[in-house]
Amino acid sequence: MTYDFDQEIERKGTDSHKWQKYADDVVPLWVADMDFISAQPIIEALYQRAAHGVFGYTQAPRELSLVIQERLKRLYGWEVREEDIIFLPGVVSGLNLAFLAYAEPGDEVLVQTPVYSHFIRDPLLHGRAVIDQPLAEKDDTYEIDFDALDKPITDRTKLFVLCNPHNPVGRVFTTKELERLAEICLRHNIIICSDEIHCDLIYPGYRHVPIATLGPEVENQTVTLMAPSKTFNVPGLGCAFAIIKNETLRRMWISASYGLIPHVNTMGFAAARAAYSEGQEWLDQVLVYLKGNRDFLMQHVKEKLPRLRMKKMEATYLAWLDCRNAGISGNPFDYFLREARVALNGGAEYGKGGAGFVRLNFACTRKRLTEALDRMAAALK
Ligand SMILES: Cc1ncc(COP(=O)(O)O)c(C=O)c1O
Repeated sequence: MTYDFDQEIERKGTDSHKWQKYADDVVPLWVADMDFISAQPIIEALYQRAAHGVFGYTQAPRELSLVIQERLKRLYGWEVREEDIIFLPGVVSGLNLAFLAYAEPGDEVLVQTPVYSHFIRDPLLHGRAVIDQPLAEKDDTYEIDFDALDKPITDRTKLFVLCNPHNPVGRVFTTKELERLAEICLRHNIIICSDEIHCDLIYPGYRHVPIATLGPEVENQTVTLMAPSKTFNVPGLGCAFAIIKNETLRRMWISASYGLIPHVNTMGFAAARAAYSEGQEWLDQVLVYLKGNRDFLMQHVKEKLPRLRMKKMEATYLAWLDCRNAGISGNPFDYFLREARVALNGGAEYGKGGAGFVRLNFACTRKRLTEALDRMAAALK
């Protein structure tokens, strides 16, 4: 079937986090969900499950594990066994489990900033320290400064948390880059927790490589986090999974999660299964629409917001806009909210290197995106 992503769907009044947070006159382009209708097979699977009317404790459907195994093999040549897949209610729960399971209080977690705020804030909540090593900013993109990354590592550095594709800088790390990262981690005996939640939202010309697929040694030292939530726009249904090949790491994970991490809910499993087995048609179409929005945004920024600079985007629907030369006094997030009535994410929340930037979620209709950009351009005049 053909999906119409230009269709405006009213989300106010649905308890949408994105749409309820700000006043009615604000265009919300912040938290990472899409304003688009879900794939029809997902909607049907949820109706069908709801129609049964009994919602007891649910175990992971065998078919879901099988479809994930098949998908990982097809996309990445990655052989994963059923027992390597551990379901979770969310990737953020997975990140926090990694901090608890693989680092003791006082141990260090290595991350690359600017990065999704849970990477830098949550270790501290558990008494773990953070080594936040900035990515190297280049003209229109970011690279990894490997020497700088290696230097601050100590024998208390236990975990490296990779964000690939990277939120918010939009990079898809190459095999070469991943090999160098893995080499550093293996050399220092650091466990890798790789958040790959955005791995299906990749633009033409780029290819996602799960770091665990680089070889058995890396696989043995890696926990990979994935989910259908960003890919198929079902984050409100709470279903994600970790892939842990190493039995010791798996045992540590399970014991850290015991009694704390709830089961995935019935509807989350139903949606995930439908998404992975029947959602490809929707995904293909949404990727075309998102690419159109990315290209439109890039062009629009160049022509109508020339004092902003947009970084090259290899993946995700989250654009990273440099406002440092826009002549804005104070924080650009506050400025655009106040002057344009557009809600973005402020760059400072992503840690070192984020101040002066905003993150813009363009997974909305082209019309809404245009309206927001026009308002931002007017505010800068
Ligand atoms: C890199 C990254 N990890 C995790 C999440 C959230 O995952 P979840 O909603 O499954 O906890 C996001 C959401 O934006 C994200 O960008």
